[in-house]
Amino acid sequence: MTKSNGHVRIVEVGPRDGLQSISDIILLQDKIKYINLLTESCLPEIEVTSFVSPKWVPQLADAIDVSRHINKNNHTRYTALVPNNIGLENAIKSEYKSIALFTAASETFSMKNIHCSIEDSFKRFNDMAPLWGNLHVRGYISTVWHCPFEGEINAKSVIPVIEKYIDLGIQDISLGDTIGKATADETEKLLTLLLSRWDASLFSLHCHDTYDFASKNIRKGIEMGIRSFDSSAGGIGGCPYAPGASGNISTEKLIDICETSNLSTGINRDKLKQAGQFIQSILEKDMVHHAKN
Ligand code: HMG
Ligand code: MG
Repeated sequence: MTKSNGHVRIVEVGPRDGLQSISDIILLQDKIKYINLLTESCLPEIEVTSFVSPKWVPQLADAIDVSRHINKNNHTRYTALVPNNIGLENAIKSEYKSIALFTAASETFSMKNIHCSIEDSFKRFNDMAPLWGNLHVRGYISTVWHCPFEGEINAKSVIPVIEKYIDLGIQDISLGDTIGKATADETEKLLTLLLSRWDASLFSLHCHDTYDFASKNIRKGIEMGIRSFDSSAGGIGGCPYAPGASGNISTEKLIDICETSNLSTGINRDKLKQAGQFIQSILEKDMVHHAKN
């Protein structure tokens, strides 16, 4: 038997990142079925939805209902993405024990995505901190390698954003390759800088797979000691405010990468496949409907 090199945490972001930019509103019952299948596949963490403005992300306007009706188990952490106090209050009312904040390394992306500067996003987070109390808090940083508006991002501008999250007590930071443009060399360069200051356990990699670079970047991350990755079953997804961004790396592909590196994930592949196929069939049905009309 081959010796295991340890364990990888997979954060399934399909229900949030995967669905947020789909314009046809998916039925509540289909979202619930999809998330329940994800739960049955023993994922350690599922980002269920986001409590953002329904004007900006109409697909997730049903966040409260989705959160209320899904089946939850004890071995999965359920997370909701929140931008501000309104979102946090809704997440708390919906009984989340885990939230994810989001900001960026690029000022232009921050303005387009959340309508405020990076500094102001942290003012919002500071206002939220007394309310989140003992909740688990994750912090996303988008565009750490490339921005759809500003191009290449200087690795040094990522550092103050990480420091601000750490000042807020956040120990779970997800580095976003928002448009999937980072190469393995660029991944290595940034990680070398960050890991000279912080432990690898602080970070997750959040790779969109626009140019098929994600697998190589994840392998590079594994080689450098990262053990937490974000992905979406079936590889669905994208960010509505990042032109050209496609889906996250698929959870199925990510598990393959982990297994070839002798890293366990604890995920039930058959159930995961069902979840991925189910949501893809719903999205395809919508596409066929559009093609006919
Ligand atoms: P705003 O429009 O800039 O300003 O919103 P506002 O604070 O003045 O609010 C305007 C209206 O929104 C008001 O309502 C507020 O009550 C309402 P009105 O008076 O017009 O009727 N509002 C809210 N409603 C529901 N939930 C809320 C909320 N907050 C305000 N939480 C805001 C600022 C951030 C809310 C807005 O810009 C927004 O929702 N943006 C959407 C951002 C988003 O969801 N982006 C995609 C997720 S990030 C991502 O995908 C990247 C990631 O995957 C990593 C990566 O790939 O890089 C994480
Ligand atoms: Mg994303």
